[in-house]
Amino acid sequence: MNALSPQPDPETTAWRIYHDAKAGVWVDHFNGRWLVQTQAGRFPDFLKGLASGVATSIYWRPRDKAASTAPERVWGEEVTERFQVKENGGSFWIDFGAGYSSGIFLDQRLNRRRVGEESGPDRRILNTFAYTGGFSVMAARAGATTTTADLSKTYLNWTWDNFAANGLDADAHFGVKGDAIEWMQAFAKKGRTFHGIVLDPPTFSRNGKNTFRTDSDYAGLAGLAASLVEPGGWLLCCANTHHLHPKQFEKDVISGIKQKGKSVNSIDFLTMPPEFHGDDYLKSLWVVVG
Ligand SMILES: C[S@@+](CC[C@H](N)C(=O)[O-])C[C@H]1O[C@@H](n2cnc3c(N)ncnc32)[C@H](O)[C@@H]1O
Repeated sequence: MNALSPQPDPETTAWRIYHDAKAGVWVDHFNGRWLVQTQAGRFPDFLKGLASGVATSIYWRPRDKAASTAPERVWGEEVTERFQVKENGGSFWIDFGAGYSSGIFLDQRLNRRRVGEESGPDRRILNTFAYTGGFSVMAARAGATTTTADLSKTYLNWTWDNFAANGLDADAHFGVKGDAIEWMQAFAKKGRTFHGIVLDPPTFSRNGKNTFRTDSDYAGLAGLAASLVEPGGWLLCCANTHHLHPKQFEKDVISGIKQKGKSVNSIDFLTMPPEFHGDDYLKSLWVVVG
């Protein structure tokens, strides 16, 4: 049995509190509510002992049902409504009743912080495949003007709720519903540029006749995004794909950018939060484009 990971900092109330990839057990702590995912179809009872004095509720779902099933309560208080958590001082809505995920991917915490640090009042930031807009919130909190792109209206609305939770005026920002690649092509045609762009696509995406795969199509995505970046601006390129080798990913990103006639001033791998140690599936590259 592994130990619980401590709260990362006082400004953060959501983190991965327990993981044992070998045993197939992952526990996310959301302000005292635990969301447990397991490889096996049985709840691991030892977690109730670990939760005592640390959590107020435990909810659980097997990982293979994560996309389709709301988690069930196995211990503690019922969570009937959505609630907020803090991350790096920002506020985010969590909903255990939502399918797919509960509102925030905790493995992106340090990347969201970095995007906040690299944003500022005179900067335009584009967040693609945005889900509930976590990156947009961090950029907007730093004063940037954000554009948030996602296929889902539900997630765009959730983004605006997250803006409101942070006292941010959604009317001062932009949201575009639809295929992120088509939106970037349209921005390129219009000559729109950004200081920074976040690319965090799902491993596989289908939208009508368009498909996207991180392991075969990333070069094109990175190149298209680079064509929208002002000189000296940045791209955050993420791939949540176990089998994609980091070196291959880096090669794809660099070749895509160069194919568009842009140069790479610097490129660095970012690390996952420390409590994810040993589970390094998420590859993240910070690229400064020339
Ligand atoms: C892996 S999540 C992204 C996580 C997000 N970047 C974050 O950090 O919270 C995938 C998101 O991409 C969206 N999506 C999938 N295919 C898309 C596409 N072709 N264009 C725009 N959004 C897409 C989904 O609706 C979902 O919200």
